[in-house]
Amino acid sequence: MADDSQIPMHQAASRLGQAKRVAVLTGAGISAESGVPTFRGPGGLWENHRPEELATPQAFARDPELVWRWYHWRRGLIAQCRPNPAHEALVALERRGIDFTLITQNVDGLHRLAGSERLLEVHGNLWWVRCSSCGALYEDRASQGPEPPACQECGAMLRPHVVWFGESLDPDILESAWRAATGCEVMLVVGTSAVVQPAAGLASVAKQAGGFVIEINLEPTPNSNEVDVSLMGKAGEILPELMAQI
Ligand code: OAD
Repeated sequence: MADDSQIPMHQAASRLGQAKRVAVLTGAGISAESGVPTFRGPGGLWENHRPEELATPQAFARDPELVWRWYHWRRGLIAQCRPNPAHEALVALERRGIDFTLITQNVDGLHRLAGSERLLEVHGNLWWVRCSSCGALYEDRASQGPEPPACQECGAMLRPHVVWFGESLDPDILESAWRAATGCEVMLVVGTSAVVQPAAGLASVAKQAGGFVIEINLEPTPNSNEVDVSLMGKAGEILPELMAQI
């Protein structure tokens, strides 16, 4: 007897296998199996602070040491983490030679480490820092705290080169993400709770532009009702299986 539970997977694999233009949107869930805590799942709190209380310009202005301690903690944790089979499956997908864009909300750098190249880090990257005074921007893997690091150019305090709540996304990066979403035949939406705009809205943008949207998540999200196929489970298992079937 046919296994009906496999129908969505077959449908997703068939659409993905035929698509010449693919966009992928990822969130913290894709890095969960690498050991990076998600924001809204267990382990999302740090010293009883929610990310929304720390990842803001107001929090940094009020208590930069506290915000940097959180980022130093996250950098230390992420430095130990390796890409997992979900990150690797997306590298394999890109290497099929299709028109491919990977849009990530993650700041952990694991997609790049896995080998993804056509990558838009819409929320920045926590291994880059930017001067809060002169705006100088550079990669910094060395700072470990506890003090906030200082700018090599002017000595003022550096901040992580990430987008905080209440801040705008880089308009060029957002435009590229929007173009990828409107131009794709298939969009994969992987491991995001789909609550933080504007990134979360890209799935709807793709859908309204005629794209076939496939969601991969442990649980339903606000996007689940409007996507074409919802695959429930771990990204590190589902993505490799999807790749094996196309
Ligand atoms: P969240 O922590 O809000 O959501 C993680 C999602 O991943 C949830 O829907 C989980 O069900 C799912 N998930 C967890 N483990 C998974 C696994 N192994 N396989 C598949 N899915 C899994 O993270 P984001 O949606 O990325 O923004 O959060 C969006 C933004 O809010 C972040 O980029 C960050 C945060 O505050 C900024 O810092 C600006």
